[in-house]
Amino acid sequence: MDFIKVASLSELPEGSSKIVKVKNSKVALFHFDGKVTAIGNACLHKGGPLGLGCVEKKHGGTFVACPWHGWEYNIETGKAPPGYKDQQSVYEIKIEDDVILISEEPIVQSIKATHDLSDLADLIDLKYQTTGTSLNILGISTTNMNDNLARFSTSENALEKALAYATEKYGAETKMIKLRQLNFRHCEGYYSQHMNACTWPCSITEMDAKDGMTQVYRDMVLWADIVLLATPIRWGNASSLYYKMAERLNTVQNQITLNKNILIKNKVAAFIITGGQDNIQSVAGQLMWFFTDLGFVFPPFSFVGWSRGWTAEDMDKNVLQFKKSDYIKRTTEEMIDNCIETISQIKKMNTIKIIAPKPHRQDSLSVDIENPDMNL
Ligand code: FES
Repeated sequence: MDFIKVASLSELPEGSSKIVKVKNSKVALFHFDGKVTAIGNACLHKGGPLGLGCVEKKHGGTFVACPWHGWEYNIETGKAPPGYKDQQSVYEIKIEDDVILISEEPIVQSIKATHDLSDLADLIDLKYQTTGTSLNILGISTTNMNDNLARFSTSENALEKALAYATEKYGAETKMIKLRQLNFRHCEGYYSQHMNACTWPCSITEMDAKDGMTQVYRDMVLWADIVLLATPIRWGNASSLYYKMAERLNTVQNQITLNKNILIKNKVAAFIITGGQDNIQSVAGQLMWFFTDLGFVFPPFSFVGWSRGWTAEDMDKNVLQFKKSDYIKRTTEEMIDNCIETISQIKKMNTIKIIAPKPHRQDSLSVDIENPDMNL
């Protein structure tokens, strides 16, 4: 076996790690407990750079945690922790004087074990439940409240009316998701390390079987023909729960960047926006740009709004007036009519021809710059 010089020992002091290139592969070097070791740098999960991970003593050995989603490997044997069968590649190291030499080829080959993701098989395989004739309407209520002290929500009430009308008049299948009742984690920003770290299904979904966003992914991406999103106005913006969900939907949009894969096709979205005071247009604008970036189509007049103006601080009367008004009932029904007309048209569209004029990975202005730490 040939060995090549990759660094001097002084470049890898005790307690540090370093990524080096060996032929066409990146290798993570570690210097811990007086010993230099080397394993493949590309995490077996999604290719995260192991040489940038934190090293800790655990599981009866010294392990590095991948900085992307936390898979762990023994820095000497390349093995995953007990209970997992993954084997990272391992390189032989020789130290001659101050020079670190590494074998040109791994002495242990990497093996990615099978991980049981059968619970997410429908998401992984994109098993769409929509058909040429389905009429599935998903309502997403983003208002927050203490359900033990339930209060009247104008946005949620309008959404309930819209769904009831769709069932009654068109025989639509409807579902309602109340975001406040889903226990779901905030986006943890893996995308900020590398676009490949934001995966489909979301890595949080993969690692946390109880995470409630799985229901949103399933119902929004696979089941719905039409998504109606209802939000209150909070200080001029949509509900904070909406933004929490939107951040987690980066995984949907990111598939366009990574793989030119548009997950949302032939789907319609429309919005119900209610507030005691105002800023309906601004909230509608925010919702519309995000949903168009996901791939949704809008009907004409794609939002319904309710507000009473800047001086309307008497919120008790807001509910009184809302309940008395026929306006919301009429406009939500008209919005449903428009959504259903629109979905009947776009179901005839050839989805294969739909393209996303959005940035793809090769469009980056830095595409020619190699990041020496990354494997991709
Ligand atoms: S844990 Fe390493 S890439 Fe996901």
